[in-house]
Amino acid sequence: MPTLVNVLCIGAGYVGGPTMAVIADRCPHARVNVVDVNAARIAAWNSDSLPIFEPGLDEVVGRARGRNLFFSTDIECGIRDADIIFVSVNTPTKTFGEGAGRAADLQYWEKTARQILAHADGDKVVVEKSTLPVRTAQAMDRILNSNARGLRFEVVSNPEFLAEGTAIQDLLQPDRVLIGSHETPSGLRARRAVADLYASWVPRERIIQSNLWSAELSKLTANAFLAQRISSINSISALCEVTEADVDEVAYAIGTDSRIGPRFLKASVGFGGSCFHKDILNLVYIAESYGLTEVARYWESVVRMNDWQENRFVRRMLASMFNTVAGKRIALFGFAFKANTGDTRESAALAVTRQLLADRAHVVISDPKALDNARIDTESLGGHIELEPDPYRAASGAHAIAVMTEWDLYKTLDYGRILASMERPAFIFDGRNILDHQRLFELGFNVFPIGKTPLRHV
Ligand SMILES: NC(=O)c1ccc[n+]([C@@H]2O[C@H](COP(=O)([O-])OP(=O)(O)OC[C@H]3O[C@@H](n4cnc5c(N)ncnc54)[C@H](O)[C@@H]3O)[C@@H](O)[C@H]2O)c1
Repeated sequence: MPTLVNVLCIGAGYVGGPTMAVIADRCPHARVNVVDVNAARIAAWNSDSLPIFEPGLDEVVGRARGRNLFFSTDIECGIRDADIIFVSVNTPTKTFGEGAGRAADLQYWEKTARQILAHADGDKVVVEKSTLPVRTAQAMDRILNSNARGLRFEVVSNPEFLAEGTAIQDLLQPDRVLIGSHETPSGLRARRAVADLYASWVPRERIIQSNLWSAELSKLTANAFLAQRISSINSISALCEVTEADVDEVAYAIGTDSRIGPRFLKASVGFGGSCFHKDILNLVYIAESYGLTEVARYWESVVRMNDWQENRFVRRMLASMFNTVAGKRIALFGFAFKANTGDTRESAALAVTRQLLADRAHVVISDPKALDNARIDTESLGGHIELEPDPYRAASGAHAIAVMTEWDLYKTLDYGRILASMERPAFIFDGRNILDHQRLFELGFNVFPIGKTPLRHV
């Protein structure tokens, strides 16, 4: 039986909360404290209404909370007690000064490092769980090991690869866990301590170990490659629309090539989420700062293609709806950046909403889990916006429906009933290609999928 280990996680967000819940669930020998400066978030973690929606999360938290999983705002005490400190604070894109709009804003991260330094009374392993620019651990080392108290901090990089919407599944059965450290005796010891935690449920051959810089860079690279596949297929979707090719057929045909593989080839209105934009822009900034202009331009084009796809979606709506949406009610089905999450950060739906409002549309947003976040995201936009949980009511009186999120719910609605309540001609813009387009057309809709020839009556 492994000895008791005290684990602390600073940052109780989309990553910190689920990751620590799974560690506590699978490692009965670990006592896991999760702390955050946001008292409301901690109160929600301690309640029956968790602050984030993830399939399976309630059950995992329910099993471990109060047993060996604790949520609190007492950061100082948490630091003192911990052997291993995961830092999972937000690292958004900088909005000011040097590198604004590209570089990672490391202020929360550095503040956390200084807090650890101020309150630690013994040696600690500090684990980078947040996604960070490559070589951040060097700065961490300098801050943490600048103390005059003889304390020794070993910095380890353990980036998180979970995807929102499947976080619990991803954490329970990860493709791999990556742990990077200095290749010194104390670095290797720290690496082993973190690996031993995961080994309680992850097969050892899936726990990849590397040097610190490889681990840090691998996370940015993974997100860049994933986003690149989406931008690649989205670029082809535009070509399909003008050539009568079908993007799903093209994706299937190329995805059966084992060198390419079938995943992440779904054309859509564009990728969103808190990570892809910021991590690619960060990669661009890092490449630029090393003078690697070609590398920077290459990755920047992935984000530019995504912006273009979002714009193109709205331009297509306008063009097909007689070049105006002013005063027209348009129902957005979905606002979350993907299905099975309430997270709306960088959602394509927000970009589409902004553009529709600029063209004076009356936008009605519907979503089964994301309306609270949608309210916050849209409150400063002005214009005519309504939030409506019931998709039937959202579509009633609308000229068009735009599917923004691939929630299963939208596949099973009674579109005959919906059509009967809409203005004519009625339009559906399927930004996720999840609906039965032929059937909708036969019902009487004008249907505009992504990357396919529209089915139109007008
Ligand atoms: N969301 C994802 O799908 C995902 C996946 C992999 C990696 N990541 C990375 O993980 C990190 C966290 O992402 P997230 O989505 O969980 O962010 P989040 O904004 O949901 O959570 C971060 C939390 O950190 C807290 N915090 C900030 N400074 C603090 C401090 N000094 N002390 C205590 N708490 C503090 C905030 O209050 C917030 O609750 C980011 O670097 C992100 O890039 C995110």
